[in-house]
Amino acid sequence: MSYLRADKRGGGTKPSLFLKHRRSLFLSSPQTSVFLFSLVFSFRRRAKGGDLQQSVAFKNHAFSKCAMVFLRGVSALSRLRSRLNQQSSLCDSVRWLQTQSSSDLDLHSQLKELIPEQQERLKKLKSEHGKVQLGNITVDMVLGGMRGMTGLLWETSLLDPEEGIRFRGLSIPECQKLLPAAKPDGEPLPEGLLWLLLTGKVPSKAQVDALSQELRGRAVVPDYVFKAIDALPVSAHPMTQFGTGVMALQVQSEFQKAYEKGIPKSKYWEPTYEDALSLIARVPLVASYVYQRIYKDGKFIAVDNSLDYGGNFSQMLGFNCPQMQELMRLYITIHSDHEGGNVSAHTGHLVGSALSDPYLCFAAALNGLAGPLHGLANQEVLLWIKSVVDECGENISKEQLKDYVWKTLNGGKVVPGFGHGVLRKTDPRYTCQREFALKHLPEDPLFQLVSKLYEVVPPILTELGKVKNPWPNVDAHSGVLLNHFGLTEARYYTVLFGVSRSIGICSQLIWDRALGLPLERPKSVTTDWLENYCNKAKAT
Ligand SMILES: CC(C)(COP(=O)(O)OP(=O)(O)OC[C@H]1O[C@@H](n2cnc3c(N)ncnc32)[C@H](O)[C@@H]1OP(=O)(O)O)[C@@H](O)C(=O)NCCC(=O)NCCS
Repeated sequence: MSYLRADKRGGGTKPSLFLKHRRSLFLSSPQTSVFLFSLVFSFRRRAKGGDLQQSVAFKNHAFSKCAMVFLRGVSALSRLRSRLNQQSSLCDSVRWLQTQSSSDLDLHSQLKELIPEQQERLKKLKSEHGKVQLGNITVDMVLGGMRGMTGLLWETSLLDPEEGIRFRGLSIPECQKLLPAAKPDGEPLPEGLLWLLLTGKVPSKAQVDALSQELRGRAVVPDYVFKAIDALPVSAHPMTQFGTGVMALQVQSEFQKAYEKGIPKSKYWEPTYEDALSLIARVPLVASYVYQRIYKDGKFIAVDNSLDYGGNFSQMLGFNCPQMQELMRLYITIHSDHEGGNVSAHTGHLVGSALSDPYLCFAAALNGLAGPLHGLANQEVLLWIKSVVDECGENISKEQLKDYVWKTLNGGKVVPGFGHGVLRKTDPRYTCQREFALKHLPEDPLFQLVSKLYEVVPPILTELGKVKNPWPNVDAHSGVLLNHFGLTEARYYTVLFGVSRSIGICSQLIWDRALGLPLERPKSVTTDWLENYCNKAKAT
């Protein structure tokens, strides 16, 4: 498949074969020649009908690419590389076109093409640079939760302390601009992000629609999953019920079945892919069942075949308002992945390194997400904000708010929604939620309280002297948005985070198996060992 980039900078239209991310975009398929012919053919169709100017440029370029590739020899797996400089300033001037065949719309076929090239890259990196040092490990790092220790390969996203997350090289604002939406200028469709995380390419709307349809087709949950949840008391935490449902889903693991039959290592990624997509498709059903069971009348709302992943999840929870559906699309997109070292992502990856199937990995990840320093913080934030309102009212002054923050800190508690293990600036996931609030609910009193907290909390945390990042994180904002549209049950919020995380964790798991990443087994040491080591180091 290919993407054609029509860059309109400088008035000219310069299409180019595009492979996303800063890395090479490539055509490494045996169907390269077929693709090229279809490219030209499709262009000719365009030239007759659609955008003529674009088509002419497209045609010239397509022919030159044809010639180039043929000159290189269309032996078997010809490869075409081009580099894309992904500076955000370019986003406005980039327009995506594409040619399509049935395999263009099929995510599995796309991956099948990409995997051999990535395997080669990794092999080369290992053989040529395997001994290159990436830094020194200090005692502080060992005692400090491995902060700053580079030790994981995670392909789908990368977190910069100052700039925040990039999904396959794209920042959140770039994703909002480039990924297909359900409506003009709407929020990105999470299926588009899934495609991006898996392939490194920005999908077309047709590809996203095909993936939506595939996910809907996989969204079937056996009755025993609901029965397993029903065995728990209704008072059990929503994350406990959700995790139980995910564990019950594991019974259907294709990877486990294939492994029992003796599947070779080179094929591990295929049943992992099956499990991953099915899991992503099914978790909204399990999550919405938990919601209906705990907070509503327990009735199960079925998948709506006219809706996308985010819209569907919203309606299955009982929220049909278009704004809530847009919020859900944004929410799922921005919570999906945050590189590999955070507790849930790392847990999924670690468990997967033992060749546990995606259901087992994701259930384990959820247990990490359920901790208050990680995913549960979204619950904690709304409960904390509501406690502020209960004590001081909605029109609380900044002085009163300061007192309340100090009271929290002096009580030995953290201020939820502020701080981060890696970020050192305001989380862009916070910023985009703030923009959503400014657009859709500027008058909401709890949103206004969140805005006040942004002014009040960072100076106080800075004054404490030990907090490395006094700025708000993703969890500082999500609750007030959900609360505004009627999803008021804070204890449920981490389940939403969990549904979203399935996309990032499962995407990486597919690549873990495709790249043959090994069992994870870092070295641990005792305090005795550290003291002896340090004393010896001092003496020499
Ligand atoms: C996210 C978090 C766990 C990161 O922890 P970390 O990497 O250890 O953060 P730091 O290195 O800045 O922590 C240094 C100290 O500041 C404290 N600190 C950090 N953030 C704080 C906060 N929001 N409120 C109060 N104290 C905080 C830590 O508890 C630690 O105190 P200690 O030395 O007495 O144990 C931490 O900022 C936190 O607890 N935040 C609140 C919970 C939250 O919002 N979690 C969601 C994260 S997306």
